Amino acid sequence: MSLQGKHIVLGVTGGIAAYKSCVLASRLRKAGAVVHVIMTEHATRFVAPLTFETLTNQPVVSDLFARPSTWEVEHIALAKAADLFVIAPATANILAKMACGIADDMLSTTVLDTRAPVLAAPAMNTNMWTAEATQRNVETLRARGVHFVGPEGGFLACGDEGPGRMSEPETIFAAIKDLLREKRDLTGLRVLVTAGGTRERLDPVRYLGNESSGKMGFALAEAARARGAQVQLICGMTTAAEPAGIPIRRVDATRDLYEAMTELAPQADIVIQAAAPADYRFETEYPQKLKKQEGAPLTLTLVENPDVAAAVGRLKQPGQTLVGFAAETQALAENAAKKLDRKNLDLIVANDVTQPGAGFGVDTNIVTLITRDRSDQLPLLSKAEVAERILDRVMELRGQGE
Ligand code: PMT
Repeated sequence: MSLQGKHIVLGVTGGIAAYKSCVLASRLRKAGAVVHVIMTEHATRFVAPLTFETLTNQPVVSDLFARPSTWEVEHIALAKAADLFVIAPATANILAKMACGIADDMLSTTVLDTRAPVLAAPAMNTNMWTAEATQRNVETLRARGVHFVGPEGGFLACGDEGPGRMSEPETIFAAIKDLLREKRDLTGLRVLVTAGGTRERLDPVRYLGNESSGKMGFALAEAARARGAQVQLICGMTTAAEPAGIPIRRVDATRDLYEAMTELAPQADIVIQAAAPADYRFETEYPQKLKKQEGAPLTLTLVENPDVAAAVGRLKQPGQTLVGFAAETQALAENAAKKLDRKNLDLIVANDVTQPGAGFGVDTNIVTLITRDRSDQLPLLSKAEVAERILDRVMELRGQGE
């Protein structure tokens, strides 16, 4: 999704997180967006308007410098020009004003006037965020279609710990890109994605694992989120960069994945299992490092792990779509079709992991999408594009495709 030429109005209110909005403004401009900054008077006490003017190469509108004669015209022009309105940081005060329709300064007037989608990145003290008044305002705004990113938990500038920290600029940037996408056909759907490999421990220093980087699962999670879904990731061991702004539950062994999946999968509309769980674990996990026995072979016994996808298949809910992957090294279609049935899946994504450019670790994949009535072989594509094709097929299966 390119931001080239998109007009983004960035409303900055008075909080310490305003400094992070400078990074956001710069990131947006580098991505090709035209960024118009409106600052409240309080915001100008945290960051000078000149900083934003320099970063965006656009005049900053702030209440301090508001000229009553042009005010009306200027706020209408900005409200109309906006492809997206972002408020970061959004204080409890601006959220309350927006919820009540108060328009008493340049920012609140313009946001009331705009018909563009609005994204708020709240930042405030934990007690202010959890206060009933704020939560009700957030509910009201959500019901009116205002989008939210964050706040995150952690240490706050005031010394408290808890929810209230503004999301990182990169997370807000990802949310902006998602909102400006035209295809948002997964809006309202809950998507659960697994990624990465599980680890079966032998002793404190050794384990049985595989080379799944998490790239395929992460691409799916990002694509689903960009198309409007509410996404949850469950990840084993991964080496790829985690997608910003998607909640991740970490698991270690296949049995941990089994627990997490049997708990969370029944609540999802779409479950996509791109993880590579180990089929076997060591019969004994040693509490201390196993000592080398000079000259003597070491025999270890492996026992079978639960089949997570099959368990999720047994728990399948009405209206739910289950997607699995098949990592094969031979008889791709035949082996994948067997897994489709055995695991009660609606769709299996078969990849021959011996092919160059396919499978573990790489940024591309070569897959065949197999359902009970059809098999579609796709060419070498980026994992991001493979993810889009999988979601297109899922939406077709759900009777909502093109
Ligand atoms: O992470 P990347 O580096 O991007 O690599 C992507 C990938 C190669 C890991 C991915 O494309 C892929 O093929 N994932 C599935 C790997 C795998 O475990 O395949 P399988 O054929 O062994 O398993 C079939 C299905 O059952 C999979 O959906 C798997 O998640 C699931 N499974 C397997 C074993 C098990 N005990 N429980 C399971 O749920």
